[in-house]
Amino acid sequence: MATASRGSNARASDHVREDRLWQRHMDMAKFGATPKGGVNRQALSAEDARARKLLGQWAAARGWEVFTDPIGNLYVKRPGTDAGAKPVLSGSHLDSQPTGGKFDGTYGVLAAFEALEALDDAGIRTKRPIMAVAWTNEEGNRFQPGCMGSGAFAGVYELDTLLAGTDPHGTSVKQAFAEVLEAAPARLEPKLGFPIDSYLEAHIEQGPILEATRNEIGVVTLIQGMRRFYIDVFGEEAHSGTTPLKLRKDALKSACSMVTALEPLMADPTDTVRYTVGRFEIYPGSPSTVPSKVHFLIDLRHPDLATLKRLGDGIAPICEAEAAKRGCTVKVTEYTTVEPMPMEANAVSLVRDSAKALGMKHMDMVSGAGHDAMHVAKVAPAGMIFVPCWKGISHNETEAATARDLANGTRVLVDALVALANR
Ligand code: GLV
Ligand code: MN
Ligand code: MN
Repeated sequence: MATASRGSNARASDHVREDRLWQRHMDMAKFGATPKGGVNRQALSAEDARARKLLGQWAAARGWEVFTDPIGNLYVKRPGTDAGAKPVLSGSHLDSQPTGGKFDGTYGVLAAFEALEALDDAGIRTKRPIMAVAWTNEEGNRFQPGCMGSGAFAGVYELDTLLAGTDPHGTSVKQAFAEVLEAAPARLEPKLGFPIDSYLEAHIEQGPILEATRNEIGVVTLIQGMRRFYIDVFGEEAHSGTTPLKLRKDALKSACSMVTALEPLMADPTDTVRYTVGRFEIYPGSPSTVPSKVHFLIDLRHPDLATLKRLGDGIAPICEAEAAKRGCTVKVTEYTTVEPMPMEANAVSLVRDSAKALGMKHMDMVSGAGHDAMHVAKVAPAGMIFVPCWKGISHNETEAATARDLANGTRVLVDALVALANR
């Protein structure tokens, strides 16, 4: 059916309320608030449960159904007029980096929720249901891999393997999810994954381009690919006071030489390659014992599949050569592989047209960050909307965005959602 209006103005975007959206961000930011004004809200933690509970309360106030699936993805459903129609989904994540900000992920969930509220306020009914979703563990800090909930939903990962995964303290995903369900009860849908019509995700850009070019909206055309590796370097413990340097198998020095030896491989005059070592653990961690083991993580990203393949495949041989120089051994394990993922052409056009119709300055862009959309795109047409963030800073407690930009992205989102939901 066509959209029906209660008032004189049936455009959903006119009913997005900037003040309400902003206040909801401030309310969410209390859960896991850090002294520097950021957020540390680890996946399936007590803080995550409090955030989920609040979202559930807001949904209940509107009379919308809330449910969760076996990996903890949380859905808020605004019904459509056609009970049999596949839903349109929109959302992102509520977990954060350990030194995260108020907007990474949370914005996508709250923009989707604001879109539902704007539709209600406008008296607009859509043919398809529209659901807001908070995917579990996008950040991949407490539990591996990242984008866990969306990956499970899209069939990229096996549910039982994910549930058995543990955090550094030995708590499993299964146990943590059970605790979340107790603290923030929601109907548990036993089956993972269901058919959806399409998916749109709003997110802060997390980079400097929109701000620098004074664009209000980024129309995402592609999410660059990502490969992540565990590197385990094995040497031998020895007394630091008595063991001559030549006789040592020092896992730390070997690991450091690997990080350095990879630099020339990753060197790129166009500055497109993203090569990061973000975790580095040394065992046994005593001042008087030569390190016997180092565990570190490499995160590699590139928009071009062939380049991503060549660079990622080059990591193990270089690490092995470096290990051999010091009598050490190394094990390289790839634990995340995501190919560059184009957004669906029609979803991209809808976002672009929505921004155009609203008179917002917009540009096409590639996402440097990974997002849940990269997995959901495997099972449904998907698109993304970026809004500017201050100086492009993200994964940082000072991350900031303006209420106006957040609302503008939500306006683009809701009009595009209506178009999808009435197809
Ligand atoms: C998501 O936070 C990413 O690491 O790209
Ligand atoms: Mn994010
Ligand atoms: Mn993030």
